[in-house]
Amino acid sequence: MKVTLFGTGYVGLVTGTCLAEMGNRVLCVDVDAGKVARLKNGEVPIFEPGLSPMVKRNFESGRLDFTTQAEPAVHHGEVIFIAVGTPPDEDGSADLRYVLEVARSIGQHLDRYAVVVNKSTVPVGTADKVRATIAQALAERGAVIPFDVVSNPEFLKEGDAVEDCLRPDRIVIGSSSERATQVLRKLYAPFNRNHDRTVVMDERSAELTKYAANAMLATKISFMNEIANIAERVGADVEQVRRGIGSDPRIGYHFIYPGCGYGGSCFPKDVQALERTARTVDYDARLLGAVEAVNHAQKGKLFELIERHYGGALKGKTVALWGLAFKPNTDDMREASSRRLMEQLWAAGAKVRAFDPEARAETTRIYGERADLTLCEDAYEALDGADVLAIVTEWKAFRAPDFARIRDVLKDPAVFDGRNLYDPAQVEDMGLAYYGIGRGRSLASVPVPSAAMLRPAATA
Ligand SMILES: NC(=O)c1ccc[n+]([C@@H]2O[C@H](COP(=O)([O-])OP(=O)(O)OC[C@H]3O[C@@H](n4cnc5c(N)ncnc54)[C@H](O)[C@@H]3O)[C@@H](O)[C@H]2O)c1
Repeated sequence: MKVTLFGTGYVGLVTGTCLAEMGNRVLCVDVDAGKVARLKNGEVPIFEPGLSPMVKRNFESGRLDFTTQAEPAVHHGEVIFIAVGTPPDEDGSADLRYVLEVARSIGQHLDRYAVVVNKSTVPVGTADKVRATIAQALAERGAVIPFDVVSNPEFLKEGDAVEDCLRPDRIVIGSSSERATQVLRKLYAPFNRNHDRTVVMDERSAELTKYAANAMLATKISFMNEIANIAERVGADVEQVRRGIGSDPRIGYHFIYPGCGYGGSCFPKDVQALERTARTVDYDARLLGAVEAVNHAQKGKLFELIERHYGGALKGKTVALWGLAFKPNTDDMREASSRRLMEQLWAAGAKVRAFDPEARAETTRIYGERADLTLCEDAYEALDGADVLAIVTEWKAFRAPDFARIRDVLKDPAVFDGRNLYDPAQVEDMGLAYYGIGRGRSLASVPVPSAAMLRPAATA
């Protein structure tokens, strides 16, 4: 099939490439001329495991191409995907500017029936807005051309995006048109060979499904961070609690890892946007507000622990930081916990020596060259001249480090484990101080409560 994708970011590029891999002829259009030039040169601008060779292979075979021109792109596709960004606007609602710009260009150039598929994460009601925008642009041209708008939210995870796209858990199609549904069923048939993963529903439900999925996952994380903060104060170890509750199949082990907060381009903005959507329909989504607030506080957790370790005197200290990306296997730094930590350390007069396997170029793009940030080529190089070590992203390479080497190089051997990667006793046995998230021993200044303090209040 002939497919067009507007937006060659994490979603658009991965989706376009996977559709080309299945034999479709895919044209990706982006307003970022630099990105398009790099892609045409065989350079993939983002880090995503397995993506680069697949882009090259499909580009060379002629099944995948890139352009900045909307007109030929609209003429190319019998299916036209919108996969542009929907960043938060000033009040946290999703900014639909880019989605509606694309809808307008589709209306300006459409020359025959096409299915317009919204893959961006958008608030409920956006399919109607896209439909109205296309219709208006067609009317301005005096053109009468049929088209359908479908909501097809994307569930891929950065770091596993290619795998998720090739083998999705589910393919949600929100459509009120049987014709459009059949076109998408045909397009997705190669992804359904093992069993049918398609879930067809109405557009509004499809739009809400995406937000509900992300809000649920974010809620699990914030819930666990809440438990971690309680564990820390009552002298319990949240890691033992995690294993204890995860063994219940109704809860499960996934997404209940405590840590220094979630980041990325999706959870923070989608939880916020859903909460704002609820407000517009006079509903106070208290749980979502709490999920957001817990996460905001949690992103300050590592700084709080380091600051407490030094009694507030951080000026002149150097912190080695392992992990800059918002999660492993990506170079994406959007809303990354590392950013909050670095900014807090800099504000307190400390310096940072950081290592990340993939996100160093992105860090330079965001912060430029600065005297209080040194980006290192190797994890152990980041320790040179540093006082303490903070782990912010759980890259596999950080899971079993050489603690003796860390102890010998750091000026003040202490590890601040923002992802609870290590066994506290093992680290302490190696002669390092250990601080984790919710592990009973992290709040030196908070007394472990006495039995009397823990006794339930007497009931009447
Ligand atoms: N990143 C993820 O893991 C993920 C997962 C699921 C859903 N989503 C959603 O998918 C959407 C895209 O996310 P992303 O991470 O791929 O974004 P991104 O920022 O990586 O990419 C968006 C791209 O769209 C381009 N663009 C903007 N306006 C355009 C226009 N008028 N015409 C053509 N291109 C245009 C930008 O230049 C950019 O390259 C968002 O709504 C996001 O919430 C993202």
